[in-house]
Amino acid sequence: MWLPCGCTSKYVASSFARRTLASYLHVSGRSRCNVAAFMPEAAGLEGVSGRAALRELSVSNSESFWAAVARHRLCWSTPFHTVQDCDLSRGKIKWFEGGKLNVSVNCLDRHVHTCPERVALIWERDERGSEMKYTYGELLEMTCRLGNLLRRHSVKRGDCVTIYMPTCPLAVASMLACARIGAAHNVVFAGFSADALAERIRDAQSSTVITVNQGVRGGKVTELKKTVDTAVQSCPTVKQVFVAMRTDNPVTMTARDIAMEEEMLKEDVVCEPAVMNSEDVLFLLYTSGSTGKPKGLVHTQAGYLLYAALTHRYVFSYHDGDVFGCVADIGWITGHSYVVYGPLANGATTVLFESTPIYPDPGRYWDMVERLKINQFYGAPTAIRLLLKYGDQWVNKYDRSTLKTLGSVGEPINTEAWEWYHRVVGDGRCPVVDTWWQTETGGICIAPRPSDPDAEIVPGMAMRPFFGINPVLMDTEGEVLTSNNTSGALCMAQPWPGMARTIHNNHQRFIDTYFQPYPGYFFTGDGAYRSEEGYYQITGRLDDVINVSGHRIGTAEIEDVVNQCPAVAESAVVGYTHSIKGQGVYAFVVLKKGIDVQEADLSRQLNGMVSEKIAKYASPDFIQFAKRLPKTRSGKIMRRVLRKVVESDLEGLGDLSTLDDPAAVQEIIQGHEKLLSKNRS
Ligand code: WTA
Repeated sequence: MWLPCGCTSKYVASSFARRTLASYLHVSGRSRCNVAAFMPEAAGLEGVSGRAALRELSVSNSESFWAAVARHRLCWSTPFHTVQDCDLSRGKIKWFEGGKLNVSVNCLDRHVHTCPERVALIWERDERGSEMKYTYGELLEMTCRLGNLLRRHSVKRGDCVTIYMPTCPLAVASMLACARIGAAHNVVFAGFSADALAERIRDAQSSTVITVNQGVRGGKVTELKKTVDTAVQSCPTVKQVFVAMRTDNPVTMTARDIAMEEEMLKEDVVCEPAVMNSEDVLFLLYTSGSTGKPKGLVHTQAGYLLYAALTHRYVFSYHDGDVFGCVADIGWITGHSYVVYGPLANGATTVLFESTPIYPDPGRYWDMVERLKINQFYGAPTAIRLLLKYGDQWVNKYDRSTLKTLGSVGEPINTEAWEWYHRVVGDGRCPVVDTWWQTETGGICIAPRPSDPDAEIVPGMAMRPFFGINPVLMDTEGEVLTSNNTSGALCMAQPWPGMARTIHNNHQRFIDTYFQPYPGYFFTGDGAYRSEEGYYQITGRLDDVINVSGHRIGTAEIEDVVNQCPAVAESAVVGYTHSIKGQGVYAFVVLKKGIDVQEADLSRQLNGMVSEKIAKYASPDFIQFAKRLPKTRSGKIMRRVLRKVVESDLEGLGDLSTLDDPAAVQEIIQGHEKLLSKNRS
């Protein structure tokens, strides 16, 4: 792995960076009112005297707001001429057109210009106590060498590079190197199987893949290079695979493979950044939807970066010099926005967490907080619920006095976990921000902060929309619900710069999924409740997507795999409440006639297939074999009924009159009880 020691910290600014920095680095000396101390660019906005007025203006006059923020916070080589050109009814979203910039210059060069020795990354390696620090100067050098290497190997502007790596500095440098030369990246979570990786490489039409020889997580070695070898066998587009060394163990290299660090050493430390248009693609990121095929959401340059930076700064109250610890993997949107782009755009020190919350023991997070002096900690409720069960002593052992804000993301946080996070981890003195957002939204949309410093925070509620975010709730008829103390489908009435622009190669699916259900609005797929006070609380998905340990998975994706088993006639997968994972996977399976197998053997086989075709986390916790599934007369599986059965909510089964054969439900209920009692014994 590329090591920080011995790297030259000498800063070599490119001519591009120097030119753009000169025009950018103006400091406004005005401080008209306290709002300017809070957000300097707000001082130039007409009629904004306080935070509430600022929030109001960000929605009522969003163009003025975003124009001021974009001018102030991004470093442009050519200023934009049009703030926005959006039409939600057609799924058309464009921000800052005419503007040109480079995302890597915004994340690196401008900070190197002012403070090259500031630490950009702290790599909290799997091996406890072996963290490594990389300054902005070092990260720029790594990025430039890698950018040159990719260019030398014919990676061009507009190409899409697939990155299959654990969270580590070279993964960050790979993302930034793509951005530097104008290529898009497609980071695939390193827990995905060869088949899942291959599907994403093919859909993205990547000819270049970047990986590591082996991954190390929780003390276990994973053969990432071997997984890539298997995947690329079914990816004819792949011409080259760059292989970095995370461990010292050699791997078999083929003619297609390139030893990354070795080749980087031969490259120049200056890499001229590509001049990108605001709406050029920055990255694709695949996520699950309600069909079997994952969708490659597309994010573009300026709007995404600006939104990630602004939310990072204000939701977490990040200040210069803070150490920001988001423990998400870079394979997810949280890793993109709050490990890489948001913090680096703000010149922060960001932590790359390679391990697990319980390795080598359940004190890992808090030991890290003490050692790295973390100021903001951002994690997932599933980990909090797990750690809570191990007891307070694992937290209390460590000094957490540096912590200022605690964040939660990815799934609803139950009150017990919220209270524990607040009371034990934060000693009751740190605001807990439950942040709601999605791969599609690019950054946090609803969170308790920013707000007045002492404004109330209600446990388990995301509460307040961010600047420029205008949520609405819809009833089943598609009408906007205007009153409070009401629930509905969560939509956004206005575009914002961070939102996804399309689904790669499938704009129609983008329109159908997000803009067609409620014309003129962006539909999130989530339901929400708005309290008497006007605060939002997310109530869960309204579609066939479940959330296992904060990982999104479409039930149809799992069914597609299960149905590939020759013994299976049909299946239905639903989520159920799981005390740690949030949701678990429950599969109903109907076998073909005349099949005679041991159910336990088949269960094992099906679990193996799901792990192999998708990822381990998608593997069912329960598999119930049934003679038939409850269906409507038109032949549709009644998932609503199955969901109620697995939650043991028989009272809530509702109207069964449309069922083809009500006796099927009784069989399903009995089968469920049998499976539970077998499991208990
Ligand atoms: C869910 C993760 C409740 C939600 C950033 C959303 C949440 C999906 C929260 C997106 C939260 C995310 N409270 N539910 N604070 N945050 N979700 O794309 O269902 O991996 O639609 O993005 O996670 O998951 P994704």
